Amino acid sequence: EKGGWSSFMRKEVSEQPEAVANTLRGRIVDDEVVIPELASFGDDELRSIRRITVIACGTAAYAGMVAKYAIEQWSRVPVEVELSHEFRYREPVLDEHTLVVSISQSGETMDTLMAVKYAREQGARTISICNTQGATIPRESDAVVYTHAGPEVAVASTKAFVAQIAALYLFGLHLARVRGTLSATELATQLAELQAVPEKLQAVLGEAEKVEQLAHWMADTRSVLFLGRHVGFPIAMEGALKLKELAYIHAEGFAAGELKHGPIALIEPGQPVFVVVPSPRGSANLHPKVVSNIQEIRARGARVIAIAEAGDAAVLPFADEVLRIPLAAPLFEPLLAVVPLQIFAMELAQAKGLDVDQPRNLAKSVTVE
Ligand code: F6R
Repeated sequence: EKGGWSSFMRKEVSEQPEAVANTLRGRIVDDEVVIPELASFGDDELRSIRRITVIACGTAAYAGMVAKYAIEQWSRVPVEVELSHEFRYREPVLDEHTLVVSISQSGETMDTLMAVKYAREQGARTISICNTQGATIPRESDAVVYTHAGPEVAVASTKAFVAQIAALYLFGLHLARVRGTLSATELATQLAELQAVPEKLQAVLGEAEKVEQLAHWMADTRSVLFLGRHVGFPIAMEGALKLKELAYIHAEGFAAGELKHGPIALIEPGQPVFVVVPSPRGSANLHPKVVSNIQEIRARGARVIAIAEAGDAAVLPFADEVLRIPLAAPLFEPLLAVVPLQIFAMELAQAKGLDVDQPRNLAKSVTVE
């Protein structure tokens, strides 16, 4: 039931605060992560993991890419993310110290299922992050951490994506506690950030009107580029994927640092470019680097739409439009920055008269290889 909404997608986009809150519910107790579903993974086993391989497809793979930054930073366990359909055909190196984490909203994606089976055959231990109770992938895994986003009907994944990141962050913080890589204070700080996400998502949704206008102005656009860095990089790719699948517009997401290695040649006057701007409070001077990327593309005529945190004035002289997200610790920004990109793609598709719930050629669950 659409419950008064014009599409399932619009309903599901608006349910994102709830989706994250439900995924966190009952799993944070006295500043510690409690995941009873992981009981079969004892602390000794979690301490003995040498690396994590995340397998997923599409939007779920981008959730994995976001989580890679957080899990590595918190737990110091190396994380690689691989598309399920590539993983199985390259004789990946796996052993009992490799943890394979699959991510699937439906729990039925054939490529991911086959990759999980393959990993188990090779002796790896497997955890499934899944949104569908009793689906095949969790049944084929050693343990499952369910996202409680509720049923996702629209083909394009939205609320499942933010719930996947929330579940992966919980797992990363659990791992960090068990392995002793975060102090109790750091853990409490990160958990508080995580718990603040639903409210901040609500604030981002409250700013939708500006994005909607932008989408309507841009209804004739033939190509859109997306740039991001660090956790903003997978968000750039997710923004591009949403626009391709919903609005049938050519779109590409790049790591901003790659620009000068090729993609900047694509910039010509009028080319729209979304830039996910990292927080000026973040590490490694990423913010000034992305601002200078913006200057570079602006000088070549790009039309820049910046997604930047509230109060970041450095982008103002160079951006044609600024979409604001609330302040959050850098690792938590992707959960917020993705929302305007989802809304942009949905609105643009609607402005073109397309069916946002059922884009052409796509199925909600891809049960063939
Ligand atoms: C994009 C989208 C797809 C899915 C992918 C994996 O909006 O929905 O890219 O994310 O097909 O599906 P699941 O998560 O069901 O394995």
